[in-house]
This record gives sequence, structure tokens and C-alpha cells, in this order.
Amino acid sequence: MKRMIALVVALLAFIGIAYAVTSHNDAKPATKKEVPTVGILQMMSHPALDQIHKGILKGLKDEGYKVGKDVKIDFQNAENDQSNMKTMSERFVNEKADVVVGIATPAAQALANATKKTPIILGAITDPKGAKLVKSNTKPGGNITGVSDQAPIDAQLKLIRQLMPKAKVLGVIATSSDDSAQTQAKMVDEKAAKYGFTVKDFGISSTNDLNQVAGEMASQVDAVFVPTDNTIASAMQTLVAATNAKKIPVFPTVDTMVKDGGLATIGLNQFHLGVSTGKMVAAALKGKKPATTPIHFETTGDLVVNLKVAKKLGITIPDSVVTKAEKNGEVIK
Ligand code: TRP
Repeated sequence: MKRMIALVVALLAFIGIAYAVTSHNDAKPATKKEVPTVGILQMMSHPALDQIHKGILKGLKDEGYKVGKDVKIDFQNAENDQSNMKTMSERFVNEKADVVVGIATPAAQALANATKKTPIILGAITDPKGAKLVKSNTKPGGNITGVSDQAPIDAQLKLIRQLMPKAKVLGVIATSSDDSAQTQAKMVDEKAAKYGFTVKDFGISSTNDLNQVAGEMASQVDAVFVPTDNTIASAMQTLVAATNAKKIPVFPTVDTMVKDGGLATIGLNQFHLGVSTGKMVAAALKGKKPATTPIHFETTGDLVVNLKVAKKLGITIPDSVVTKAEKNGEVIK
């Protein structure tokens, strides 16, 4: 009997060891496979770009990439400094990031200069072709694809006309060095007449001259249009302080800039642009080639109105517009 027990114990021990050995072998490939790294380069901080960054992480999560477990994120904010953008891009490439993401045009251009191999996903770049990032929006051709945030300009001009039936002169203010803003300012110049506006363009070189230029503009125009301008997006308070003083409304291109003091927009949801970008990052991690992946354009904007600002300026927003915004967009009260 004792021998029997000893035999059974030995047998169990053997099975145990065999099991341990085989299951250890099974586990090995999993521990060997490294977690991929995504390098995210954000040009600077402002509410729109911060929302895009947040959205990217959500998009990755939606596609099954849990940060820390299935993917490593190396996030860098260049604080609007060109040399930061260059060094950070080069570091991503040297450290062999699997996919890199550029949030805003200058960040994407710095990444494009640093590598022709690592897949680059564009996070809300207005004009990828105009910024020389891709050969064509439908067939990018190289290592770059992503999401464009080209705004629905016609819908925005129509909204300005609806809310300001008597307005004649539309001021357009943009930073001279911002490609994204210049692209949209040009589009407004071309389309404004169709909606009965004459355009007056105003340029700034940095936030330092924003207060003065905005003040001069406010005494020459009936309403202001602001494109997706990175510098102005970071200083909306300065702009609206100058325009509010003369009771001139500001119509921005995006939701976050209405929250920061604009009157209204039909604009692209910035968080959602980020989610779309994150999904394209996930596809690239799975091996989808940028060369043959078309640029994704988000076409429908949300109606966002700021009733606090309307009240301050003495502008009445029709009930129909408020109801529509409540249903499909956002009302800031
Ligand atoms: N489109 C801008 C660029 O290409 C970046 C951007 C995205 C942006 N959303 C914005 C700029 C909102 C200002 C406001 O550089």
C-alpha cells in the first residue's frame, strides 16, 4: 500500500513537472513578443490639439489596444518649438517606434523629415497634399496617411449669414506662418462673395501682436472668421477680449474655440477627429500600408452655439438654431 501511494505521488509529481514544462513553453512566445510603441508628437498645447490627443488614445482602445498592455505610448509636446519637433522626431526614429503620429502640420512635417520608413499617421492635418506630406489624398504613396480636419467652410459661411443677416464685411484673421490657417483663409476669401460678404484679411506673426491686430480689425468689420489657426487657438481669450469690446462676434472653425469664447460654428468635433486618427494608428500597427490607405476626411460638422457670448454681444440666436444645436451639437449656456 505504501509503495502504491509512493508511486501515485511520483506519478503526480511527474505530471506536474511535465505540465509546468509544457505550459512554460507555451507561454514563451507571448513573453517574447514585444509590446509595440507609438510615438505621438503634438506641436503645442491648445484645447483642440489636447482633445485630439485624448481621442487618439480612445481610438486605440476601441480597436483593442490597451495603453501599457498592448501598446506603449511615447507622448511628446513640442511647446511650439521647431527644434524640439526635430529632436523629438529623430528620437522616435532612433528608438524604433513602430508607428508615429503628428498632431498639427509642423509636427507632421518634422516627422516626415525624420523618416521615410516608419509609418506616420496624421492627426488632423488640414491640407496633407498642400503641406507636401502626401502625393495624393487618395493614394498617399509613401509612409504617410491619416486624418484631415479640413473644415466645412460653406456650412460655416452659411451659418454666419443666417445669424448676421445684415453683416457686410467679414474679417479673417490668421497667423502668417500657419499653413493650415492660410489654406482655410484662402478658401474663405474665395467663397465669401457667394454669401454676400466682402473679406478683409488680417495677419499676425505671433500671440504678441494678436491684441493689437484684433483691436484694429474689430473697428473695420461686422463679424470675424477664425480658421484652424494653432496660435490663435492657444490665445482665444486675447482675441475675444479685443472683439467683445467692440461687440463684434467671432466665428471659429471648431467646437473647442466656440467654448473658448467664439459665438458659433458648424465645426468638426476635435475629440472625434482624434478617435478616427487612433483607429488609423491601430490599422498601421496591424500592418496596413500608408501608401495605399487614403486620407480620411471628416465631413459633417456639429452645430455649436455659445449663448453666454450671444448674450454678452446682444445677438439673438433663433430658437430653431438653438434647438438644432441641442439635438445634434452643443449649446454652451
Ligand atoms: N489643422 C491644424 C494643422 O494642420 C491642426 C488643428 C487641428 C487645429 N484642430 C485644430 C488648429 C483646431 C487650430 C484649431 O496644423
